[in-house]
Amino acid sequence: MKLFSFITFILTIVQVTVGLPFVSRRVLQLSEDTTITVPEYEKLSLLRKGVRFIDITEHVELPFFNKRPENKVVPTYKYPALVSNDQIVQKLIDNIDKHSMYDNLAKFTSFYTRYYKSEYGYQSAQWLEQKIQNITSGLPEKVLTVERFSHNWKQYSIIVKIEGSETPDDIIVMGSHQDSMNLILPSVLAAPGADDDGSGTVTNLEALRLYVEYFLKKGQRPKNTVEFHFYSAEEAGLLGSLDVFTHYSTENKRVVAMLQQDMTGYVQDPKYEHVGLVTDYTTEALTNFVKLIIDAYLSIPYIETECGYACSDHGSATKNGFPAAFVIESEFSKTSKYIHTTMDTLDRLSFDHMAEHTKIVIGSIIELGDWKFAELKN
Ligand SMILES: *[C@@H]1O[C@H](CO)[C@@H](O)[C@H](O)[C@H]1NC(C)=O
Ligand SMILES: [Zn+2]
Repeated sequence: MKLFSFITFILTIVQVTVGLPFVSRRVLQLSEDTTITVPEYEKLSLLRKGVRFIDITEHVELPFFNKRPENKVVPTYKYPALVSNDQIVQKLIDNIDKHSMYDNLAKFTSFYTRYYKSEYGYQSAQWLEQKIQNITSGLPEKVLTVERFSHNWKQYSIIVKIEGSETPDDIIVMGSHQDSMNLILPSVLAAPGADDDGSGTVTNLEALRLYVEYFLKKGQRPKNTVEFHFYSAEEAGLLGSLDVFTHYSTENKRVVAMLQQDMTGYVQDPKYEHVGLVTDYTTEALTNFVKLIIDAYLSIPYIETECGYACSDHGSATKNGFPAAFVIESEFSKTSKYIHTTMDTLDRLSFDHMAEHTKIVIGSIIELGDWKFAELKN
């Protein structure tokens, strides 16, 4: 009897001490000065309530060793004030292939979900990687590389790098996220994620395809390094992009411009079609440059809009001191309400609208690719 209760006692102790570490706790940044710690399952209830955050768990430093400020200062660069390559850009955007964008999105949304922890999410990353390999196969590996960026979960991010010929340390990043998530039951229910963010993924894929074609014809690379990032796990608190940009910052890399495409295909009111230019938690000088691109190359206008803290991967860039901008399908209140459900499907999207976003990407990389950066001293 006594022995029995002793064993029960020991088992309880073991359970408490060994079991506790498995109730994983996450550190979430809800705003620039609010950080909370919650059990992992709380993240989902917050997301369902529409609360956005950056999950900084993997990058929290012990206070004693903390040498880095929580948020780095974003320097101010002098971006082009005029477009100077309109003939080149015009030629490229005339060749945007909406059928190819459709086919890519049809395939990408055919994965049951692209949830970052799932086997499906791993398979969709493999397909995307292969697609990128195919699109870029004409360029030698000395010029263009496609790399897996692994994380602490199954799905990896993909980094495509076109090494600059003159100032390779100045890096321009075009971003989008490959994962999708059903907010009711992420591990069980389907998440086609056509708009969020299959649309941004194929927007950038098409820009990459045309850009590679352009360099094959011209036989000359950009002066600055141009990268395309396809992040994993945006939906879980910018996890993938935070890993990537924190790594870049640790390696003292200099990203001089980051432009995010997240939700590029839904048009609520075709009579007032426009794109949404996000003005909160983004970098003003870069956002002004994007305005220039939109005015020069798009057939629709922009409307300035706000989307809140940590609303997409550009937040991971600015947090690490890199200037970032974000263009979304429309002003925030008119964006798709189907996201994070089984109803986020491709039949609800406009490929003409996605093509407008592709124009922004092409315009930006052509204009910034050879731009000589200068930092403004305040
Ligand atoms: C890539 O190209 C190969 C050879 O043409 C083809 O078999 C494969 O299906 C392509 N993969 C993708 C993802 O497009
Ligand atoms: Zn998204």
